[in-house]
Amino acid sequence: MPHMGSRGEPFGALALRAHSRGDVKRRAIAGANAWRCKCRYSAEFPAPDRWSCNPLPTLDRTLSKQAARHYYERFADKQDQQGWYEDAALDRLIAGGGFGRARAVLEVGCGTGRLAEQLLARHLPLDARYLGLDISQAMLTLAAGRLASHGRAANLALADATVSLPVADRSFDRFIAAYLLDLLPRSQALDLIGEARRVLVPDGLLCLASLTRGSGGVAGLGSWIWAGVQRLAPQWVGGCRPVQLTGLLDARDWDVRSRETVSPWSVASEIVIARRR
Ligand SMILES: C[S@@+](CC[C@H](N)C(=O)[O-])C[C@H]1O[C@@H](n2cnc3c(N)ncnc32)[C@H](O)[C@@H]1O
Repeated sequence: MPHMGSRGEPFGALALRAHSRGDVKRRAIAGANAWRCKCRYSAEFPAPDRWSCNPLPTLDRTLSKQAARHYYERFADKQDQQGWYEDAALDRLIAGGGFGRARAVLEVGCGTGRLAEQLLARHLPLDARYLGLDISQAMLTLAAGRLASHGRAANLALADATVSLPVADRSFDRFIAAYLLDLLPRSQALDLIGEARRVLVPDGLLCLASLTRGSGGVAGLGSWIWAGVQRLAPQWVGGCRPVQLTGLLDARDWDVRSRETVSPWSVASEIVIARRR
């Protein structure tokens, strides 16, 4: 006699039914994804480690690349107003990044060059070089004005961080991504971490900051609300949602030196410094 499921069906039939339901759901989602990608969104199944702190256990939804570029082109002159939650995290990133000993710094998603200006003016040795990449020309124009006084030490280029970066293998000793990984789908964030490994020299430092899940209390509530808003309308928050950076780093490739969370005004950010093995 065959084994029976709860409705008296053989388990084989039950498995078949689950499989075909899963198939239908997957196909429907793939269709919806294709439609969203053409329009404004990308979507992926959330990772098992809950990389995105999405309170709704369905798709992890982010802006499509085109929508992100369009958004940040228009948002460039307002980017510096994000300091109320970013500054505390960037201070920790500077403190942990050992920039006084850096020779070559690559920043992806450099925005208006706010972090670069601080690094070049106060932390990097005089002969260190900096390269900032961004997908938005408007951001780069603001960054160019800001960094003009640093001459040839500072370079900027238009580039998409989700494809192979236009730099040679092992050519930098610091790799920065601040508030960029939290707007990328997990698969693209993982690819970017792979690129960081390619372009960093052994022992080079990966310096990351992003929105994250606040732990408990008001910070927990703050990140839960942010994630909910992002889930419903990613364009309202530039596609950014709370994520867990350490979930991206394979211990065989990265030695995590420090991981901190800061929560100014109840908006939690994670700062991770990891050494390339
Ligand atoms: C939230 S802003 C952060 C800017 C800056 N890092 C800061 O902390 O002020 C995200 C930045 O990433 C850039 N960006 C978004 N998608 C990108 C991509 N695929 N490649 C490169 N830059 C991207 C945006 O243009 C924007 O400048």
